[in-house]
Amino acid sequence: MEIKPQSPRNHITLLNCLQPCLRLLFKCELLQKTGSFKIRGALNAVRSLVEERQRTGRELPRAVVTHSSGNHGQALACAAQAEGIPAYIVVPRTAPQCKQDAIRAYGATLVPCDPSDKSRAETASSVVQETGGVLVHPNQELAVIAGQGTIALEVLEQAPQVNAVVVPVGGGGMVAGIAVAIKALRPDVKVFAAEPSNVDDCYQSKVRGELTPNLHPRDTIADAVKTSIGPNTWPIIRDLVDDVLTVSEEEIKRATWLVWERMKLLIEPTAGVGLAAVLSEQFQAVPQDVQNVCIVLCGGNVDLRSLSWLTDLSGKAE
Ligand SMILES: Cc1ncc(COP(=O)(O)O)c(C=O)c1O
Repeated sequence: MEIKPQSPRNHITLLNCLQPCLRLLFKCELLQKTGSFKIRGALNAVRSLVEERQRTGRELPRAVVTHSSGNHGQALACAAQAEGIPAYIVVPRTAPQCKQDAIRAYGATLVPCDPSDKSRAETASSVVQETGGVLVHPNQELAVIAGQGTIALEVLEQAPQVNAVVVPVGGGGMVAGIAVAIKALRPDVKVFAAEPSNVDDCYQSKVRGELTPNLHPRDTIADAVKTSIGPNTWPIIRDLVDDVLTVSEEEIKRATWLVWERMKLLIEPTAGVGLAAVLSEQFQAVPQDVQNVCIVLCGGNVDLRSLSWLTDLSGKAE
């Protein structure tokens, strides 16, 4: 089925065709400080570290270190700056320029690495050794997962009528945190992870019943979810996430465009993954009593210099 973002009626028609009574709610994390939900986990991790050191009478950490496709890096840099702690952020050379610039602007030292999970982890571990800093993992650190879970607390408070939450998944910190909170407080609410099919490790892990990282991830426009889920997020996803929905690159682009054009919200393509999943054919299999669906618009750090794909897509849409 075609979505033609130029015509508002097509969007409504499409939704009506798929789910007659579907109501979409959007949790606008792109409007957070640093432009994504990542500030929640980063602040919780840095604050917890500082409070624990103060309680036990130890010195503050010499530095905090992480590896990040950009958004957690910005968030950690911002949280560390607020506490007066130096931050070292390992960033893949291919990360969007706007994210790299923002990390520097928050006063952090940027350390480039190759765009693979292995290179990210190895480079970060050398930086930890060199600086004597503390690693704050972008998605496996428990304080980070717990911080991301506050999204769910707000959704339940702001939209108690919600029947399902749809969450883009990369390393799984956000969906794991949300799933823990939702299933503890409102087990009737479904939690769906949404993932680009080019990097579908979460989907594969659920299908096989075992952690199946992407050893050779393909490219995706949703750069922030290229990474794989890990040992701390997998058991939570296995037990508490209801399903994983995968979407094509074209579906992500069309959903992103739709949000820009209709909602006037400058999301990054990764944030289009959730809406793409809801608009996809797969969502028809979701039970009919799921009527109020909350989609997490997880970030807005889009690199406006890299939008050549828009021209390609507009050619196809006509
Ligand atoms: C905007 C955005 N959305 C989603 C994700 C995925 O989050 P997680 O790795 O916790 O699954 C990230 C991670 O970097 C992100 O920056």
